[in-house]
Amino acid sequence: MDQIDWDNLGFNVVETKSMFTATCKQGETWQKGGLVPYGKIELSPAAGVLNYGQGCFEGTKAFRTVNNRVVLFRIDLNAKRMAISTKRLCIPQMDTTFFINAVKETVLDNIDYVPPLNKGTLYVRPIVWGTSPAIGVKPVEEYTFMIFVSPVGPYFKDGVRPLNLKINKDYHRAAPKGIGNAKAIGNYSASLYPLTEAKSEGYDEVLYLDAKDDTFLEEVGSANLFLIKDGKLITPKLRGSILDGVTRDSVMKIAKAKLELDPIEADITLKELYNSDEVFCTGTAVSVTPVGSIADEDGVHSLSDGKIGLYTRKLKEILVGIQREEVKDDFGWLFPLK
Ligand code: COI
Repeated sequence: MDQIDWDNLGFNVVETKSMFTATCKQGETWQKGGLVPYGKIELSPAAGVLNYGQGCFEGTKAFRTVNNRVVLFRIDLNAKRMAISTKRLCIPQMDTTFFINAVKETVLDNIDYVPPLNKGTLYVRPIVWGTSPAIGVKPVEEYTFMIFVSPVGPYFKDGVRPLNLKINKDYHRAAPKGIGNAKAIGNYSASLYPLTEAKSEGYDEVLYLDAKDDTFLEEVGSANLFLIKDGKLITPKLRGSILDGVTRDSVMKIAKAKLELDPIEADITLKELYNSDEVFCTGTAVSVTPVGSIADEDGVHSLSDGKIGLYTRKLKEILVGIQREEVKDDFGWLFPLK
């Protein structure tokens, strides 16, 4: 821990003191588990997760606040989403209390790794895999749930610079009725090739269109997308292939309650996107990150003069303010730990 350079945290894995682990068989209940020293794990080469991608995860953060406390943010929503994802992946579901207690235990044991105020956050990664062997395609018998944590800084290398996105019609992220609305590990492997291609061309991320009509906006890499137009906050509606983000929901609630912006979930076309006043994306990892330009086959469309828009900045300030206890948590979103 002494070696951590708090002033230069990126979004990287930093080994910490401990991690949580529990196992459960098909038809049983998640009930035990505990902390073990952070380290490598042993798996059969035939483990369900390694062969058929039977795994899903969550992402949440612990924040150090101005009151010198450490808080979790809306962890109940992560617990609910984990239940939805595990059901879809035929993994035994865990109840909310088991999930939340495991996250609390892991963060408390690694509390010294929560970065100082304004230096970053502790990213928390609960993940569950099918770990017993299978050669035929089927849900395996045994599952392992782990939680590891890592102190992190900004997700994108240059911090708060507005993103330059690329629309690439050669790829989709996920299909409706597939697993796009679950936090399944396979969704993220599907995004690696388009992401690598976009990055090699100088873009930050890929903006995906829907798999059915190739017309409506979906997600930005691993983040949800928003636009602001004439006092309305508009985001792609959840059509089965979009993840129901915790930050997505929080931003909609803040917009309505604090900024008198109407939150609307809709099918959004590229034309509407290019005509909008501000564009940004949201996620636990990316928080609220402005979008400065979008490139498609016709060229580059600049947005908000490449700067962070006024509403985007306000939404971010309020969200981050609540997470740091600089702004009163009127919504009851914080789970104080210490
Ligand atoms: C998050 O925002 O926490 C995510 O899950 C994105 C992650 C894939 C980096």
